[in-house]
Amino acid sequence: MSDWLYSDTVKDHFTNPRNVLLGEEGSFPADARGQTGNIKCGDQMLMLLKIKDDIITDVRWKTYGCASAIASTSMLSEIIKGMNIKDAYTIRPEDLVEKLGGLPNYKIHCSVLGDKALRTAIDDYLEKTGRAGMLKEASTEICHCLGITDKDIENAFHNGARTWEALQQATKIGTDCGTCQQKALELLHEFAHIYGN
Ligand code: FES
Repeated sequence: MSDWLYSDTVKDHFTNPRNVLLGEEGSFPADARGQTGNIKCGDQMLMLLKIKDDIITDVRWKTYGCASAIASTSMLSEIIKGMNIKDAYTIRPEDLVEKLGGLPNYKIHCSVLGDKALRTAIDDYLEKTGRAGMLKEASTEICHCLGITDKDIENAFHNGARTWEALQQATKIGTDCGTCQQKALELLHEFAHIYGN
């Protein structure tokens, strides 16, 4: 297809996604569970992990997201197998986009679903093993509908987001009730003061 916007790697992961949960959730006996996204936006993500001695030994995921969400989570699921939970916790959407050979700008926000679900699952595991919040960054949730924090906004700022539209492209913030917009824009303004434009 001449107008295909995606890299061959994205195409490969989209048409042949790895580690997808095929049956019911109970068919994969997981040690940890993470769910994120908003079903109203049609982009919910479920991630299940098997973990032994803090190493991720297996993973299954399921999403109602788009091609970019599918490709980036498929890539993520390959990367994290055999990885220590501490290292897995630090994976960011930019890492996945790079490994995928890029995504169209307006699609980058779709890649945040997988890594957020992954961190939620690791948080779940830490809670179950008596280490609740051990890896959680001190952060404040700004968009309650989508679980976007001040750290996510700061990260988007460092990646070039300077407007509400750019912030939405990077994080999906405000795509449900929208009441987080003012607070988010104040933060962008604040980061511009702190870091300069
Ligand atoms: S708080 Fe509802 S969309 Fe952000």
